[in-house]
Amino acid sequence: MDLAPEDIERLVAAAAAARDHAYAPYSRFRVGAALLLPDGGVSSGCNVENASFGLAVCAERNAVAAAVAAGARSFRALVVITDVSPPAPPCGACRQVLSEFGDFPVVLANATGDRLVTSVSVLLPGAFDRRALEAD
Ligand code: THU
Repeated sequence: MDLAPEDIERLVAAAAAARDHAYAPYSRFRVGAALLLPDGGVSSGCNVENASFGLAVCAERNAVAAAVAAGARSFRALVVITDVSPPAPPCGACRQVLSEFGDFPVVLANATGDRLVTSVSVLLPGAFDRRALEAD
């Protein structure tokens, strides 16, 4: 499904607002993410770090958790925003978590105005999925 430019910019605004709340005192790398839900709503998330470094949770996975808690089970698009150029893509763990909810456009954005459009299946070809659990 095509992603309208106005949808992208609405998600960028939500992701940037979430990024403003990032809790990243250790890495100083602030990330915001926003998911477009089937009903047109938006769920966002930011990265949340911890003094026990391995407990950091990425912005994308916090956005997924918020969306699922709101009742969503599929997504129309994701925007991830950082302040680096070129824009940073989701980490491997987040790619796997995103792939649980299908294949949808992923827009990598930054405050400079870069918008790189890719997708879950391009970011994670050959994802592990539930079919493996059903195979005998
Ligand atoms: N981070 C994200 O929020 N998303 C990613 O996809 C990659 C990394 C966060 C985790 C950590 O708080 C900081 O960026 C540096 O790795």
